[in-house]
Order: sequence, then structure tokens, then C-alpha cells
Amino acid sequence: MKNKLEILPFVDSPEKHAKFDEVVAEYKGVEGALVQVLKKTQEIYGYLPLEVQTMVAEALNVPLEEVYGVVTFYSFFTIKPKGKYNISVCLGTACYVKGASAVLEEVKNQLGIDVGETTKDGLFSIQDTRCLGCCGLAPVMTVNDDVYGKLTPKEVAGILNKYKA
Ligand code: FES
Repeated sequence: MKNKLEILPFVDSPEKHAKFDEVVAEYKGVEGALVQVLKKTQEIYGYLPLEVQTMVAEALNVPLEEVYGVVTFYSFFTIKPKGKYNISVCLGTACYVKGASAVLEEVKNQLGIDVGETTKDGLFSIQDTRCLGCCGLAPVMTVNDDVYGKLTPKEVAGILNKYKA
């Protein structure tokens, strides 16, 4: 797929790093600090590349393997930058049986990227998700906080156009 974002090297900034230091100071020594620090750190940097995972490991004094294990275990953590609009197509059972995979295929075709990738212009990224908790609306897709239910592949282009405008 040619439209996907080429991932640029991670660049830190003094402002972001100062926020990161504040987060570490707030959570260091607190039970469950690793997940909390990773969540807040992802809010600061947008994603958790290896460079950031290393910063967290060093700051909290935990092995990098442990940080990596947590980042890859929880689906809300991402090691690649997400687009301005992050699209989640639910592949939980209810959505799956109502045709979610055809919706996901259409999103991939429209954007020219695969799940876990971001478009070159940085506008869209796609992730697959398990049950979003609104199975009555199956199949369901979200674009950031906007929820679209009872979807057919035909509706996908129109929805994406709203965000391109
Ligand atoms: S299975 Fe998709 S919302 Fe529950």
C-alpha cells in the first residue's frame, strides 16, 4: 500500500520532556505506576516508540522488556504515530457477524493503508478493535470519539469525506 506514512525518527522537545518529567515525578513509587505513566506519556508524545519506552524504563527503573510487554499487551497503546483521525472498526463477534470485515476492507481500500498504519498526510490511521460496547449498532466504526453504527461498506466513503473536508 503506497499511501502509508513513512515513519520519521522520533524527536523529543524540551516542552514535552518537561511534561514527561512531571508525570514521572507524580507516579514514581506509586503502585501500578508503569501503566499510568505510559498512558500519560502517550498523551504527551502521541505514541510510544522504542525511544520513549526506553525513557520510561530508565525513569521508573524497570526493565525495558517489562515496558515493551505492557505496551504490546494493551491495545490502547501504540508504537506508531496515529493519524489526526483514528478509525477503529470493531471486529467483536456481534459486529463481525453483521459484516464488519467488509467495512474494514472498504476503509483500507479507501485510504490505501492497512490496519496499524497511518496515511502519508497524517490524517487517518486504522486500528481494529474488539467490542466497543454498543453491539446493538453492529457493525460499528469510530472515528476518534464519533460512533457510526449499522454500517454498510457503501457508507464508508461518505463518512471519510466529512473528515477530509
Ligand atoms: S461487537 Fe462490536 S460493538 Fe460489540
